[in-house]
Amino acid sequence: MKTTRLYLSNDTSSLAAGAGRLADAWRERPEIQLIRTSSRGAFFLEPMVERDMPAGREAWFNVTSDDLPRIVGGIGGTPVTEIPFLEQQTRVIFANFGITEPLALDEYQMRGGLKGLAEARRLSPETIIEELRLSRLRGRGGAAFPVWKKWQVAQQTGAEQKYVVANADEGDAGTYCDRMIMEGDPFRLIEGMLICARAIGATRGYIYCRYEYPAAARAMKFAIQKALEAGLLDFDDYPFDLEVVVGAGSYVCGEETALLESLEGRRGVVLAKPPYPAESGLHGKPTIVSNVLTFAAIPNILANGGAWHASLGTEGSRGTMVLQIGGRVRQPGLVEVPFGLPLRDVLDRFGGGMAPGARFKAVQVGGPLGSLFPESQLDIPICYDAFAEAGAILGHGGIVVYDRETNMVELARHFMAFTADESCGKCTPCRVGSVRGREILERIQSGQGAAEDLMLLSDLGETMKTASLCALGGRAPYPVETAIKHFGEEFRQGVKFTRPA
Ligand SMILES: Cc1cc2nc3c(=O)[nH]c(=O)nc-3n(C[C@H](O)[C@H](O)[C@H](O)COP(=O)(O)O)c2cc1C
Repeated sequence: MKTTRLYLSNDTSSLAAGAGRLADAWRERPEIQLIRTSSRGAFFLEPMVERDMPAGREAWFNVTSDDLPRIVGGIGGTPVTEIPFLEQQTRVIFANFGITEPLALDEYQMRGGLKGLAEARRLSPETIIEELRLSRLRGRGGAAFPVWKKWQVAQQTGAEQKYVVANADEGDAGTYCDRMIMEGDPFRLIEGMLICARAIGATRGYIYCRYEYPAAARAMKFAIQKALEAGLLDFDDYPFDLEVVVGAGSYVCGEETALLESLEGRRGVVLAKPPYPAESGLHGKPTIVSNVLTFAAIPNILANGGAWHASLGTEGSRGTMVLQIGGRVRQPGLVEVPFGLPLRDVLDRFGGGMAPGARFKAVQVGGPLGSLFPESQLDIPICYDAFAEAGAILGHGGIVVYDRETNMVELARHFMAFTADESCGKCTPCRVGSVRGREILERIQSGQGAAEDLMLLSDLGETMKTASLCALGGRAPYPVETAIKHFGEEFRQGVKFTRPA
């Protein structure tokens, strides 16, 4: 019997959308061969099944097991190149998604993988770092620091042992691109880390993976073993040791110094900087801690040249930004586009506008520490400079849309409570300030707020911003302040009296 090869994502989000049930239902069907790929990130279309047709891949959306005859018959598919959500993207880091089998090293290589590493093996450490400088790549974990500067410090700091650490803690609610890379294109992360190791002279690496990502940790371990067997982890003069370490479920362990404390087996608390990890990090040795997405951007830069990367995006933000759109939109999913697109376009073109019946109220960009934007501010371009000017952050690219049903006092309270829960406790403004902030918001929420409470929140916010040890306390006031700024009436309704002097 002629079998038809079908492609179905094995990504955790796809499984949540029903891909696993579909695979179970079709497992014994002799007329098909099911290939498990990564996801294209168009989660509103999942489970999505693809097959090869004479003119290229075609896709079927929101598939149920009853759709099999149609798909095998080639009826009613949409060419993948004509799916508007995908067609308008510039897939560079996510180029393999939905196409390759994640753990097939040969497929990774066939689609251009390992070219960057080959180039790095040929070049001197200084030349690799120069290529990174030309690329103008900035870290994708939130702080947007120029990558080449960190690498140069680590390279120039003399030490018999240096480390490379991938920050895969990905704690921002609504973000999942690191997880997708680890599950869906793990060799890209390994390649990026190897290039970094070669540039700075590191012999050991760790992938610090958040506890909630078991499939990602499994995929990474498997891919490391394959890379080892293929001899990829051997440099001419030394072997590179790479290991996955699973965290224990703490948001603040995504902060680099807390992460390193946790890696050393201590409680994850934030340390004062300097010294920065590039100079003195894990076990006091030069350590590059970078986000998964940052490492994943590096193979293409070495393969295509720094100038190629710098040709994408805007003046201060080069390359592509990976956005993860969620909340009350019609089309939640992962989007990779060059920097510069206005937020409104992102929501309309990719998010597809509001979910049926929902009306827009606000959008939060940059995770739980990110600012809220009302309708009137949606023309802001997606780039570091414009966001910094607005006192906002792009963070890790999380975009969550809220509808008119959202109670802004409750939302603000939720974010302050999040910081109170997750604070490592090392510095007073964050440890105590977040609890006091939550209490004030609870008073307002219960209608027992005093007129002074909004002023008190503002004073408290200033103290947390200026005196916290890290961005957890330093950024916690922003979602609260932007909620009050744009939706102040909801807060004033909870303020009933003036407290006696
Ligand atoms: C509270 C807090 C949580 C953080 N969580 C993460 C995280 O989950 N992943 C990440 O890559 N960076 C996180 N960061 C930023 C890291 O401290 C660090 O800047 C980043 O890993 C550096 O990588 P990059 O240069 O590639 O951005 C966090 C920072 C703070 C203050």
